[in-house]
Amino acid sequence: MTRQIRPRAEERYQEELAALAAADTKERRPLGWKLSPKAVRDFILGRDEPLQYQGRTIQVAKKYLGNDALVERCVITLTGSRGLMLVGEPGTAKTMLSELLAAAISGVSTNTIQGTAGTTEDMIKYSWNYALLLSQGPTRSALVPAPLYVGMEKGILTRFEEITRTPAEIQDSLISVMSDKVLNVPELGEDGLLFAQAGFNVIGTANTRDRGVNEMSSALKRRFNFETVRPVGNVQMEKEIILREAAAMARSAGVEMAPDAGAAELLATTFHELREGVSSMGHRIEKPSAVMSTAEAVSVYYQTMMGAYYYGGGAMEIRALAANLTGALGQEAGEDVEKLRGYFSTVIRDKADKLGGIWKAYYQARSAIR
Ligand SMILES: Nc1ncnc2c1ncn2[C@@H]1O[C@H](COP(=O)(O)OP(=O)(O)OP(=O)(O)O)[C@@H](O)[C@H]1O
Ligand SMILES: [Mg+2]
Repeated sequence: MTRQIRPRAEERYQEELAALAAADTKERRPLGWKLSPKAVRDFILGRDEPLQYQGRTIQVAKKYLGNDALVERCVITLTGSRGLMLVGEPGTAKTMLSELLAAAISGVSTNTIQGTAGTTEDMIKYSWNYALLLSQGPTRSALVPAPLYVGMEKGILTRFEEITRTPAEIQDSLISVMSDKVLNVPELGEDGLLFAQAGFNVIGTANTRDRGVNEMSSALKRRFNFETVRPVGNVQMEKEIILREAAAMARSAGVEMAPDAGAAELLATTFHELREGVSSMGHRIEKPSAVMSTAEAVSVYYQTMMGAYYYGGGAMEIRALAANLTGALGQEAGEDVEKLRGYFSTVIRDKADKLGGIWKAYYQARSAIR
C-alpha cells in the first residue's frame, strides 16, 4: 500500500470543505468562488459549532492562529481585482495560508508557480508541446498551459510562491495580465486572446529574508495588496501549534505516540524568547541570526519525537531536545550556538531556580548543546 506524505489541502480537509459548502447557502458569494467569504474565513479560523453533514458531525478546526483580522483582509482582497501578496519572515505560515485560501475559494491549491532563480515566462504563462507544434502548427491543443493560463481559463486562483526569488523581468510578465485580465498568445492569431474568468486572481508569497534578491518592480507592487504575516506573538499559541503540527506529522507517518506538552512548552518558550531578545523574566538576550520560526520549532520537536519513537522507549528526552536545538541554530553561524549557551546559562538557569521541574531538567541538559 502506498501513502502520500502530504496530501493537498483540499484532500486533507475534504470533509470540512464539503460540510461548509453544504451549509453555505445563504451568504453572499463572489462569482467563481466555491464558498462565500464567511465560509472561507470559518474554514481557516475554525467554527465554534460543529456542522452536520451526511449524518456526521464535522468540527471545522482552527488552522491559522494569531491574527484573525489578517485572514479576513486577505479574503476581501481576493474578491477584488488586485492580487494578494503575503510577505513576512520565513516560517510564518504564508504558504499555509495561501494553500488554505486557494483550497477554500477555488477547490484547488495546486495551481502554483514555484519562484526560483530559474523560473521562466513559460513556466508562468504557457509553453508548447513541440511534437504537436511541428505536426499541427500552433493550435490550442499544442499549447501547454502553465498556472497563470490555467487560473485565467478556469477562473481559479494562481499561487506564486517565493515570487522575489524570480528575476524581476520575469515577475513583470504578470503586470499586463493583472491589470487587463487578458493574456495574448500571439502564435494563435485571432484566437489568441484569453480572457480571465471570474474567480481568477493571484496570491503571491515573499520572504523578507530574500529582500533585495530580486526586488519587485513598483509597477507590479501596485497590482497587489500587501499583507505582512508576523510570527505568533505568544508562547501558549506557539506551543499549541507545535503540538498540533507534530501530532499531525506523526499521524501521517504512521507513528502512534502521544505528544509531550512539557517539551513543547520548553521549546515554544525558547523560540519565543530568542526571537524577541527578551525573556519573560526581563533578561536581555542576544538574538541569534538564525530564523527562530515556528516551523523550525515544529521541526526540532518532531525530530526529538522521532528519536524517542525509534531509539528511545517512546518518551521524549529533554537532553535530546536541547541537542536538536543546536542543529536548528547551527545552520547559519557558529556564534548562534554561543548565544544559545548564553541563554541557557542566564535565562534557563534562573527559570530552573525559580520554577524547578522541567526547567531544572532543561538546564541540566545544557551540556548537550555543542
Ligand atoms: N500562525 C500560525 N498558525 C498556524 N500554524 C503556523 C503559524 N505560524 C507557523 N505555523 C506553522 O509553520 C508551518 C510553516 O509555515 P509555512 O511553510 O507556510 O511558512 P512560510 O511563511 O511559507 O515560510 P517560508 O518563508 O520559509 O516559505 C505551517 O505549516 C504551520 O505548521
Ligand atoms: Mg513558504
